Amino acid sequence: MEKHLPLFPEGASTLSAQVDTLFVVWTAVSIFFSLLIAVLILVFMVKYRRRHEDEVGQPERAAIWLEVAWSVIPLGICLVMFGWGAKVFYNIYRPPTNAIEYWSVGKQWMWKFQHPDGHREINALHVPIGTPIKLHLQSEDVLHSFYVPAFRVKQDAVPGRETQIWFEATKPGIYHLFCAEYCGAEHSRMIGTVVAMEPTEYQAWMSGVTPGQSMASSGADLFQSLGCSTCHNPANAAMVARAPRLEGLYNHQVKLADGRTLVADDTYIRESILNPTAKIVAGWQPIMPTFQGQVSEEQLTQLITYVRTLGAPEGGSPEAGVGPITSGDTAGGKTDPNAPQTAGSAKSEGSKP
Ligand code: CUA
Repeated sequence: MEKHLPLFPEGASTLSAQVDTLFVVWTAVSIFFSLLIAVLILVFMVKYRRRHEDEVGQPERAAIWLEVAWSVIPLGICLVMFGWGAKVFYNIYRPPTNAIEYWSVGKQWMWKFQHPDGHREINALHVPIGTPIKLHLQSEDVLHSFYVPAFRVKQDAVPGRETQIWFEATKPGIYHLFCAEYCGAEHSRMIGTVVAMEPTEYQAWMSGVTPGQSMASSGADLFQSLGCSTCHNPANAAMVARAPRLEGLYNHQVKLADGRTLVADDTYIRESILNPTAKIVAGWQPIMPTFQGQVSEEQLTQLITYVRTLGAPEGGSPEAGVGPITSGDTAGGKTDPNAPQTAGSAKSEGSKP
């Protein structure tokens, strides 16, 4: 649906047409019924007006078919609207599995981005067209909202939680990026651009920028420096009993001490780092200290991304990696004064056994 209407935003993603069609059809249906009802009111006002001072209305029953028709037809229309709207909503908020992962952190008042290879940008995001891009969103301070009208996508960046949005740009161009949630004095200046490029151009552009450290590899470094590896380290036979293995954990089921079973998703891993005692894995002691306040949002993402990349445990036995997993996602339990403590170990000190 190419638009030449003034004020109608350009459409430049695979979602644009879906959203626009839905919007136009809903608007048309609403206008149609608003007009129909308004006209009928006017017509009936005249047709059934009171003709004498003492005229009294006669009770009248509408024909049964009429009653049924004006109940069932609107119901059908509403259900179609619901189903259609839900489908588009679903398409917008479920990234395809083959999407390439990018990261973004909103903070007062800028958008920080990170490419899969670690390259970083501020207030500009370069992406190839024709590729689904999945953006992990976080906030360092208050609520922000990532909004690119041309792509018809909007998603909040919520402090303390990771949200996601995805899009696939369909034509090269420079598109406005807004923060769509009032976030303080300079909210209106928290803007940027998404630059959609032909894949070859994107490659050329990428080869000209300094690659950074990827999320997963930053996470692996943190995992060492925070001391996580002293307990979550299957290679260390003496330590292995202190904390669950993380290999093969991601997206697998975890059995908790209280009998519940859940899937180890991002939210779960995040909670296990910040509040390790919230969900204790069956068979393990709650000895892991919290890392609340010790890791930034970005570092949390790095750790989570690292955990995601851990494959199945070596030597098969998937259940070893899947079973014991939570409470300790990170750091050294406090019972290891003699363990080779790394830089982060001091942080364990305030921990409760
Ligand atoms: Cu960030 Cu408004």
